[in-house]
Amino acid sequence: MSNTPHAPAPVASEHIGLYDRRGLQPRNVSFSWEDTPLHWLPGDPFAGHTINVLHLLLPAGERWFVHVYKQVLPLITDERLRADVVGFIGQEAMHAAAHDDVLPHLKRLGLDPTPYTAQVDWFFEKLLGDRTLPPGRARKWWLMERVAIIAAVEHYTAFLGNWVLNADELDRRGADPMMLDLLRWHGAEEVEHRSVAFDLFMHVDGGYRRRVRTWATAFAALTFLWQRGARYFMENDPELPAAKASLGQLFRAGQQGVLPSTGSMLKSIPAYLSRSYHPSQEGSTAQAVAYLATSPGANGAHAANGAHGAHGPHGGVRA
Ligand SMILES: [Fe+2]
Ligand SMILES: [Fe+2]
Repeated sequence: MSNTPHAPAPVASEHIGLYDRRGLQPRNVSFSWEDTPLHWLPGDPFAGHTINVLHLLLPAGERWFVHVYKQVLPLITDERLRADVVGFIGQEAMHAAAHDDVLPHLKRLGLDPTPYTAQVDWFFEKLLGDRTLPPGRARKWWLMERVAIIAAVEHYTAFLGNWVLNADELDRRGADPMMLDLLRWHGAEEVEHRSVAFDLFMHVDGGYRRRVRTWATAFAALTFLWQRGARYFMENDPELPAAKASLGQLFRAGQQGVLPSTGSMLKSIPAYLSRSYHPSQEGSTAQAVAYLATSPGANGAHAANGAHGAHGPHGGVRA
């Protein structure tokens, strides 16, 4: 297996959509959680809680992205890519803050996520943190490894973003509009910036063996953390005594369209490992940007009702 860096070209029409004169930008958002019920997806608490795991993983995970990327910025020699990475950092910081705001609401509804988020914080800060490595090859190796892990994770955030933008079954089931807007605003920005992490990895390293190895790490970690999070929510839900999460429920929810299907999740594996893979091949920038133009949370619709705004490095609360 050759380890030669290999840079598949982005799909031109998808890449162009990202760049207006300002480049990739974070959007200020505000959401109001008071009226969102614990079972915001009526009739399917398992699917709702499986999606709720995003609120557990993303705040710590996306802050970790930002921490790693700030260390990589000095290594970027392409100005447009550097601008993309700065925009990406701004968007991910906003995503982390917006999901973080859901957690106190879950706690008020009787589902305290703190024991689980403490484990997730440990995972990102200690296991995937900077470690006490001397300057030089070992430190650079660990930085490149983490850049590649982020590219693999972003393959899945783009996959999920594309799924939620098209998951009409969530609307048909009467999902809470505030939660749907959070998921679709975030999903749309994931689709919008889906090429940045991969392009950065290809720019600073791009080794195929590293891509495969770090995909395996990211996939194993995501699977482990996600199933633990779904089990945690089901077992601690005050309205569901003795509830459990199971693979059968995951399979059924996928068939019904309230979660991604098992088949689509399996297909995403060879897609990422293909040597001709580029993130722009999946999802639609036009669809993402169209959603963002009408998203209530990203356009101040909830702000008048005293909603909480997400604070990122480039923006404050929409007043
Ligand atoms: Fe994100
Ligand atoms: Fe992202």
